[in-house]
Amino acid sequence: MSISIIPIGRCFAGEVSGVDLRRPLSPETVAAIDSGMHEYAVLVFRGQDINDEEQLAFSRALGPIESSIGGNITRLDQRRLGTDIADVSNLDQNQNIYARDDRRRLFNLGNRLWHSDSSFRAIPAKYSLLSARSIPVNGPNTEYADMRAAYDALDDKIKAEVEGLICEHSLTYSRGQLGFTDFTEEEQQTFAPVRQVLVRTHPVTMRKSLFLASHAGTIVGWPMAEARIFLRDLIEYATQPQFVYVHHWRLHDLVMWDNRQTMHRVRRFNETEDIRDVRRTTISSDGPTTAQATN
Ligand code: OGA
Ligand code: MN
Repeated sequence: MSISIIPIGRCFAGEVSGVDLRRPLSPETVAAIDSGMHEYAVLVFRGQDINDEEQLAFSRALGPIESSIGGNITRLDQRRLGTDIADVSNLDQNQNIYARDDRRRLFNLGNRLWHSDSSFRAIPAKYSLLSARSIPVNGPNTEYADMRAAYDALDDKIKAEVEGLICEHSLTYSRGQLGFTDFTEEEQQTFAPVRQVLVRTHPVTMRKSLFLASHAGTIVGWPMAEARIFLRDLIEYATQPQFVYVHHWRLHDLVMWDNRQTMHRVRRFNETEDIRDVRRTTISSDGPTTAQATN
């Protein structure tokens, strides 16, 4: 069995075949997956009936695992999964579907806003790997937007304007859009804003991309309102259909994306009735995208 990758969808994603993620992969296969990620930025592996350990082993072959602590407001004693896995499901620690007013459910609704994973951390995410262990029959889809193509299509005037800009990202900004204002002291500390460049350059391909996310709430040196509306305009522009791959989930899909080059969002579904058990492992990127403020 040897690995091959072919384009899927209307634009930039790739589908991988010839790989069994339950087994250790050769260094050559891992290297082929990495270069596939550089080219496509979203890769789909079908038919991967894996468990948490197998997902973690595959993820570790790709780089350091990001701890999921600090990424949502789940208390440690309320966790269903280990701390190396982000629980993106609608299930509580007893495998019951969250009640409609459960704060964890409401917080996770933020995944319906376009975002890049962990852009609210000083060292943001590189790859995310999302494994579908149980999914509703009729979706929801997850959508991915190509921030390289969006950058390339900017006119020169906007390219010059965004070059060198620094944004501040925080979960308080993204969740603030959903009406969350009641953060505890501890949450406010955990979610303190971090700085990220707005234009990133991929370290291997050297392609530029827009580093946008719902978590971005300010542009350093800009009046707040002007920054917010500019970021909103950019996100609207960068997520037009010509830049978007829509993933239609099948059971045991594993979808992997490069957060440095894409944004994503999940669509609405009947989540107080249908079980959706999807689990994410996350690979850290190499370092901060900009020097952090020392306040
Ligand atoms: C994520 C995420 C989308 C989904 O895991 O980071 O945003 O399809 N998930 O659940
Ligand atoms: Mn996400």
